[in-house]
Amino acid sequence: MSTQDFAQVLRTRISRRRHIKQLAGSVAAGLFPAGALWADDERPDSASSLTFSELPHGYDEHHHVAPGYKADILIRWGDALFADTAVFAPGRQTPDQQIGQFGYNNDFVEYLPLPLGSANSEHGLLCVNHEYTNAHLIFPGYTDRRDAVSRLTETQMRVEQEAVGMSVVEVKKTNGSWSVVKDSRYARRITAHTPMVLTGPAAGHARLMTGADPTGRAVLGTLGNCAGGVTPWGTVLSAEENFQDAFWGDRDKAAKRAPLERRGWDSFGTGLTAQARTRQSDAPVEKYPNTGWHRIDARFNIEKEPHESNRFGWIVEVDPYEPQSIPKKRTALGRFRHEAATVAAKPGQRAVVYSGDDQEFQFVYKFVSRLNFEPGNRPHNMNLLDDGDVYAAKFNADGTGEWIRLNVGADGDLGAALIDVRHVAAAAGATPMDRPEDIETSPVTDCTYLTLTKNSNRQAGDEDGPNPRAQNYWGQIIEIRSPGEDGQRDHTAATFEWDVLALGGDPNDISDDASGRPHAQTSRNGWFANPDNLAFDPKGRLWVGTDGMPDSAPKASGGVPVHDGVWAMDVAGEGRALPRHFFGCPVGAELSGPCFTPDGRTMFAAVQHPADEPGSTFETPANRWPDFDPALPPRPSVVVITKGDGGEIGS
Ligand code: FEO
Ligand code: CA
Ligand code: CA
Ligand code: CA
Repeated sequence: MSTQDFAQVLRTRISRRRHIKQLAGSVAAGLFPAGALWADDERPDSASSLTFSELPHGYDEHHHVAPGYKADILIRWGDALFADTAVFAPGRQTPDQQIGQFGYNNDFVEYLPLPLGSANSEHGLLCVNHEYTNAHLIFPGYTDRRDAVSRLTETQMRVEQEAVGMSVVEVKKTNGSWSVVKDSRYARRITAHTPMVLTGPAAGHARLMTGADPTGRAVLGTLGNCAGGVTPWGTVLSAEENFQDAFWGDRDKAAKRAPLERRGWDSFGTGLTAQARTRQSDAPVEKYPNTGWHRIDARFNIEKEPHESNRFGWIVEVDPYEPQSIPKKRTALGRFRHEAATVAAKPGQRAVVYSGDDQEFQFVYKFVSRLNFEPGNRPHNMNLLDDGDVYAAKFNADGTGEWIRLNVGADGDLGAALIDVRHVAAAAGATPMDRPEDIETSPVTDCTYLTLTKNSNRQAGDEDGPNPRAQNYWGQIIEIRSPGEDGQRDHTAATFEWDVLALGGDPNDISDDASGRPHAQTSRNGWFANPDNLAFDPKGRLWVGTDGMPDSAPKASGGVPVHDGVWAMDVAGEGRALPRHFFGCPVGAELSGPCFTPDGRTMFAAVQHPADEPGSTFETPANRWPDFDPALPPRPSVVVITKGDGGEIGS
């Protein structure tokens, strides 16, 4: 796409905004010319409803929050959840110890008030996903992850298997300070071994049967738990994303042992569509090396158990209020690399669950339940996600879009179609996206926002409306407007309108083609890249967590890395799409799962994989965040952020 074409895309997508005049000025001057004026770090008060002073960009071993706020460590990997849990013994943990301790690499974080159904903002349950492990930072003696994966002991791998999944933690605010309630009756660890069931249309399908489970319904554990969502009936949805990293084996050999698998569809990794295959330089691209777990558990060897991987890649519904409840993998939502699962459900109407598939050139989906959400009828709502339709998004260049209902039962094999729903979506003409991550709906306008984190493999000539840049290292945020008025939109509808809300990258560098706003209005520290997790505060301001800026930002900043963190912006009014920098992570970490208490006075955020830098090891880590104790390794931790005066965050 030429510069002029790109300008046209931006003009088309943003032209309905009042900012067209300024934007057109930028474009006419050569599309964000180098050396253009920066706004002051403090913009005029009228521009944004967010009043905090911005945090500077930076990159060091500490975490940082905007002046006037405090960000305290709430819980760390290894902290005990139960009265009889052993004290954290870094490097010498046993599986039995880890299963009683907070897990590794916290990602999704959601606060659910206690008691169920209340809006209590000072006492609740924190549900936290543990996405994966960095073995070379957990155990001594390894030079990097690849080295560790090849040589880990059985005990070490079993520790890892107990360090992933989810934690449920009771938290309470006393005299303005948050702490974890020790030995809570709600405390729970869900791991790679926790018994759970497959439910919905694919449950019991022949391709979900294994040697250990001839029913095709009983699974041990959950893997790759990235982001998620919360339902209005008080459960959490945990998204199984990069589960394929736990599996090993030759796909062709595995396929020979599994005649029901479609050859060439690569179902073991959820299946690259042919479209994604041809567009990727090196398909299939796996983000992380294998875990090595196949050496101790045959179920992770696809040559020996080719159906086991079909039992992952689902949305898992967990009831945190019932610690003995069995988690349910909801097959009706389809199987792919689920980033998250966020619910839009109005009383008396069908429930909608949005979910992105986080791989290059994959799709955005929504599930619409067949039955209505009935407030107060929890037994009814607890089964809503087992029956409904799956749709995939098609974005048209004119700012309209369609939700294509996937005819998953077309060939009479509904279960197989849900297992390989990517292929159904591709055949139906869904739009291949720049790695869909989180999706959130504004509690004020009812508009929906989608992060696309990056896609360096999008080639020139392959750009389209919501994916407007080739070699996209920086990502973007898309606004989706379901039909209806602000606050009363119909999420079940088959059509929508869309806009680019913001483009990632440094707008001071022409190579970025950055900013969905007039360049001069973005503050020096206000730009971000690689949007990943999203959260709305009660006033409807959008808070964005990033993952990847230390890698991508130098491309724009002459080699100076910038930490991942949190940026916040209005999505309506004068401050629309003007981000302000609020929180910064320590070296090596990404920022995951920001969420708010109902009163907006507390934000919980997960600092994931601190010190995950080249050359960083257990013995000589890039930092020892958050303890900075020579006896302790870096520890992924949840931070709790409050305002110094106890007031609402951002106000
Ligand atoms: Fe686990 Fe797509 O981030
Ligand atoms: Ca993510
Ligand atoms: Ca979110
Ligand atoms: Ca991430």
